[in-house]
Amino acid sequence: MDNDAKKTALRGISYGLYVIGTKVNEDVNAFTGNWVTQTSFDPPLVAIGCKKGTTSNEGIQNSKVFSVNVLESGQKDLAFAFFKPVSRVGNKFGDVEFYTKTTGSPILNDALSWFECKVVHQYDGGDHVIYVGEVVDAGVHRTGNPLTLSETGLFYGG
Ligand SMILES: Cc1cc2nc3c(=O)[nH]c(=O)nc-3n(C[C@H](O)[C@H](O)[C@H](O)COP(=O)(O)O)c2cc1C
Repeated sequence: MDNDAKKTALRGISYGLYVIGTKVNEDVNAFTGNWVTQTSFDPPLVAIGCKKGTTSNEGIQNSKVFSVNVLESGQKDLAFAFFKPVSRVGNKFGDVEFYTKTTGSPILNDALSWFECKVVHQYDGGDHVIYVGEVVDAGVHRTGNPLTLSETGLFYGG
């Protein structure tokens, strides 16, 4: 296989960019990720890819829950805040406020909308674990255009 072609072709997949939250023991954690897609209407299922060895992966592995926060176009700073591990203080990750609802996974106050999932399948295929979650709750804070990966100029894929 031509590795450059593989990289270019895989980077041609269009993505959004989301803050994915989970529970870690009695605490919460969140990371920014683009490997998110809906895979079923009924039941409503969503798959995410989560990097092995991260705090978030350990959290999802143990708690079997995660939240997906849909960011708004322009909210690059919010996305960038969760590319590295972020400590939680009270109901904030740094300056970023959140709350919890059904699964205990963090929901960002400034996200456009959100949904929470319970893991119903998982596939241990490579350097990431694929979790398929059933959507068990969702909410909309306001309407707007979702943030896309291409808008940030970043890549995670290839
Ligand atoms: C553009 C971009 C997209 C990313 N997408 C994902 C992703 O879909 N899944 C993932 O596990 N990590 C992804 N990451 C890496 C995580 O954001 C990073 O490993 C994070 O530090 C994990 O946080 P944690 O250690 O607190 O769990 C991405 C990083 C970048 C720069």
